[in-house]
Amino acid sequence: MTDPNTNNTNDRMSKLVALAKRRGFVFPGSEIYGGLRGTWDFGPLGVALNNNLKREWWKHFVDSREDMYGLDAAIIMNAKTWEASGHTGAGFCDPMVEDTETGERFRADHLLKDRGIDAEGLSLAEIDAIILQESILSPNDNTLSEAREFNLMFESRIGATAGDAGKVYLRPETAQGIFVNFKNVVDTMAPKIPFGIAQIGKAFRNEIAPREWLFRVREFEQMEIEYFVKEEEWEEHFEKLRADIQAWHRHIGLSDDNLREYEVPADDLAHYSQRTIDVEYNFPGKGFDELAGFAYRTDHDLKNHMEHSGVSMEYIEPDGSRFIPHVLEPSFGLGRAFTAVLCEAYREDEMNGEVRTYLALPAHLAPYRVAVSPLLKNKPPLVEKARTVFMMLKKEFGNVAWDDNGNVGKRYRRQDEIGTPHCIVIDFDTLGEEAPEHADTVTVRDRDTGQQQRVAISELVAYLSQ
Ligand code: GAP
Repeated sequence: MTDPNTNNTNDRMSKLVALAKRRGFVFPGSEIYGGLRGTWDFGPLGVALNNNLKREWWKHFVDSREDMYGLDAAIIMNAKTWEASGHTGAGFCDPMVEDTETGERFRADHLLKDRGIDAEGLSLAEIDAIILQESILSPNDNTLSEAREFNLMFESRIGATAGDAGKVYLRPETAQGIFVNFKNVVDTMAPKIPFGIAQIGKAFRNEIAPREWLFRVREFEQMEIEYFVKEEEWEEHFEKLRADIQAWHRHIGLSDDNLREYEVPADDLAHYSQRTIDVEYNFPGKGFDELAGFAYRTDHDLKNHMEHSGVSMEYIEPDGSRFIPHVLEPSFGLGRAFTAVLCEAYREDEMNGEVRTYLALPAHLAPYRVAVSPLLKNKPPLVEKARTVFMMLKKEFGNVAWDDNGNVGKRYRRQDEIGTPHCIVIDFDTLGEEAPEHADTVTVRDRDTGQQQRVAISELVAYLSQ
């Protein structure tokens, strides 16, 4: 029998996806119209978890440091941006083949990978030859078209302009918004090198084969930093940021056993990178795969933007010397972090003779920090007292749940399943009716152990903040 608490079962992932839907974390995009592949909607609890992740990320990488500056650039950028960055060229394409009967499109490299063949670095002609040699068919058992390059950027048009003049793209990475604002940030903030610019925002990729829940989607959020350094210092800062990335993954509760670094081989590097380390997470049923990337992008981007725009991207030192900074880029996908955090937190155990499912989420990430209930919802004095405690905690923490549905046991199960670290119950003791020494104390139940403790209302904030 497989252990549902280990990360190597597919079953664990399907249970998690079902829980996420059932409890309001993640819904299929446009569900009432049959969905839209590669899109997902975050429900009330999903938004809360995402916001907590983004807030913690910003605290960790921006607010706690002196060398980071925030930015929120537009999603739609001048199309010249993507010529300069190389995204309109072959560097941002995937090899695609079509099912000749159904017209369905597939990633050619994925079809080869399913046969144990690594397509990395192969030309389209070489891919075609292998498909022929190995008689590879589409997943529907039909023959395949010749492979061709498919650019992953979503195209749109701006205003009423006809022809290519109005063509724009939805950004495929937040990074370029940072590069095109490099000069603005330097001119307005006068940062001392090394320094970084951080941004959180949506990115769009017209993935040929979106798959595996939030792992490969067409619309997602990135949390990115471009860290500008002197060329001769890049290795030193690379190691410092690498340690900070490890600290971040520990901060969001991911265990060292489920994390590893993968040094991307030279022939597999993105068109802009001279060194990349992928941080991989051990996703249930899938194994280790990319959670975040960390690349040394040299001066590729600033140099290209300088050439294409004619605007200087040089940094000027106080002594008047000028140079184009080199760049280190930690890049995180929010959806993959969200998935990893949920996978890590998912637990099944037995409590009071029943199987229970719970999410052992860290308190700083849980959608609700605490839930408050009156023991009985039809006893006005209990409800009134519980409302006072609820309002007091809500003022302090914000994300506090009011839960008076069903009996207390059911409320505990529900809150366990969404990862609420503590449940507070206001009972007759709180009112001082049964044991006067317990007046103005409440029951606080711990999610992970199920143990209960009486805590004075006046001590609650300090108790929950531990
Ligand atoms: N600016 C660098 C960059 O965008 P990337 O490796 O293409 O690098 C960075 O993307 C991160 O964004 C990945 O590690 C992953 O977490 C996330 N990501 C990329 N494509 C994604 C997709 N289609 N769906 C979900 N997340 C994606």
